[in-house]
Amino acid sequence: MSQNNKGIYSDEVMEHFQDPHNYGKMEDADGVGKVGNIRCGDVMWLYIKVEDDTIKDVKFEAYGCLAAIATSSVITDLVKGKTVKEAMKLDKEEVVDQLGGLPRIKVHCSVLAVDALSEAVYDYLKKNDREISDELEKRHEKNEKEKEQIEEQYEDWS
Ligand code: FES
Repeated sequence: MSQNNKGIYSDEVMEHFQDPHNYGKMEDADGVGKVGNIRCGDVMWLYIKVEDDTIKDVKFEAYGCLAAIATSSVITDLVKGKTVKEAMKLDKEEVVDQLGGLPRIKVHCSVLAVDALSEAVYDYLKKNDREISDELEKRHEKNEKEKEQIEEQYEDWS
C-alpha cells in the first residue's frame, strides 16, 4: 500500500478525499439511497440514474470522515456503466482494495458507501415494481433499523 506523508492513509485515499469523483446531488435520480453510520452518526446519500438496467450516472453527498468520502468517491467510479445486478455484487473488500487499503479502524466507514449503493438499487427496483431478492430485502431492513437507531441517538439527524 502506498502511503501519504502521515503514513495513515494511502495516496489513493487522499486523492479521492481531496478531489472526490461524482460529488453532488442528482435531482432526477431513479434511485436514492440514504444511510447512516451508527458508530459516528455520519450520513451519506447515493443517487443513481439507470437506463436499460445499467447505471448511467451516479453521484453522492456525504457528511462523513475522510475514509467515508474516499470510499463513496471510488464506489461511484466502480459502479458507473455496470448493470444494477453487477453493482450489487460489489463488496467493501473490493472498495477498500481499490483504495490501496484503509486503516483497520476505518474499514467500517467503507460499509456506508456499500450500504448507500444497495439502498439506491433497492429504491430503484421498488419504484419500478421490480422483484427484490431476499438478500437485498434483508439488507434494506438492516439499513432501516440502523437509521431509526441513529435518529433516536442523534437529534436532528433526519
Ligand atoms: Fe463516520 Fe468514518 S467515522 S463514517
